[in-house]
Amino acid sequence: MGKATDELNPPPRLLMGPGPVEADPRVLRAMSMPLLGQFDPVLTGYMNDVMALYREVLRTGNRWTFLVDGTARAAIEAAMVSILAPGDRVLVPVFGRFGHLLCEIARRCEAEVRVIEAEWGRVFEPERVIAALREHRPALVALVHGDTSTTMAQPLAEIGAACREHDALLYVDATATVGGMDVRVDDWCVDVLSTGLQKCLSGPPGSAPITFNERVEERVLARKHIEQGILPDGFRAAQGPVIRSNYFDLAMLMDYWSEARLNHHTEATSMLYAARECARVLLAEGLEAAHERHRRASRALGAGLRAMGLEIFGDPAHKMPNVTGVLIPDGVNGDAVRAKMLDDFGIEIGTSFGPLAGRIWRIGTMGYVCRKRSVLLCLMALETVLRAQGFRAPPGEAVDAALQAWVEG
Ligand SMILES: Cc1ncc(COP(=O)(O)O)c(C=O)c1O
Repeated sequence: MGKATDELNPPPRLLMGPGPVEADPRVLRAMSMPLLGQFDPVLTGYMNDVMALYREVLRTGNRWTFLVDGTARAAIEAAMVSILAPGDRVLVPVFGRFGHLLCEIARRCEAEVRVIEAEWGRVFEPERVIAALREHRPALVALVHGDTSTTMAQPLAEIGAACREHDALLYVDATATVGGMDVRVDDWCVDVLSTGLQKCLSGPPGSAPITFNERVEERVLARKHIEQGILPDGFRAAQGPVIRSNYFDLAMLMDYWSEARLNHHTEATSMLYAARECARVLLAEGLEAAHERHRRASRALGAGLRAMGLEIFGDPAHKMPNVTGVLIPDGVNGDAVRAKMLDDFGIEIGTSFGPLAGRIWRIGTMGYVCRKRSVLLCLMALETVLRAQGFRAPPGEAVDAALQAWVEG
């Protein structure tokens, strides 16, 4: 350990946990560009670029597609607090830790929260969510797309259409899936969706893209109040209940990101640069190509793990391609393995939460890290560490199997 006054010199790591993962060097370079004033036309031009780029990334025509400053949950909170007034009913289908997070945020908005739960490692049959929608008649359904805690991805298309039919808004947390698997805001009738940079978008944590349509806009504008010190002449506050957060007030953020350029917060300039570069990197590769790269890495990693004699966690039909849960074998100390992976190989893998804490490791193949080399290095390191723990992994077979699966893929 150095002194607090030493220059920063973080050790090189291969980040193969469930996020954050390594940022693309292009993104880090973009973050080191000179700062601009927040109403400099060049900066507002970059803001407009970001809006256009994320419409493409999220496959939406939504005008309101911008960044909330903060980690992914900043945009979750912005969506919830701006939509939900006290007493509004929200339905949350929970299949992992981040579904519980949606409940918790909704409760803080004093919404009436109705919960249905699926066993961790499974997802919901759409019919079950649709039946709950009929029963509870919520104003909002809040759902995680890919829950990194369980590695499962919930199919959304039928649920979105049913929400429309039952006049409920649909919020989707796609923090862990955008860039790694197909996310179609408009085709799936998602009303509001948010994500973060630190997973398959290959950026650092600290900026949360959000998109929402006119249905959400209407609801938010019905609650629009503007803070006293920046009130434009002639503005009349809406009749609806005031949004209980200033920072996460989507109505004010809309004015900040539109031609009105309301002086709300100070845009996090370097994070805006990062978000812009993340989208450019992804779109240059192509969404389909990026998704295929994640699927291929998932197949190769899975083949290697199985060749080692390990078992993959959860329903294979709904496994996210960018994170893999591995059951920790009996007699193996999961934390000791993770510590050895880090100390000896500089590779970080994750554990999980709640019912899965200590039961599974989670290995991320996300964004910039989702490459053949990462998969092979991780398998080689895990095999070595496991053998030292007394687990009988057949030497070399994991890497061979992964290489073969990579080629076949
Ligand atoms: C599905 C999902 N939602 C929300 C979050 C919370 O994101 P953050 O920690 O960036 O606020 C995460 C982070 O792991 C996540 O995986």
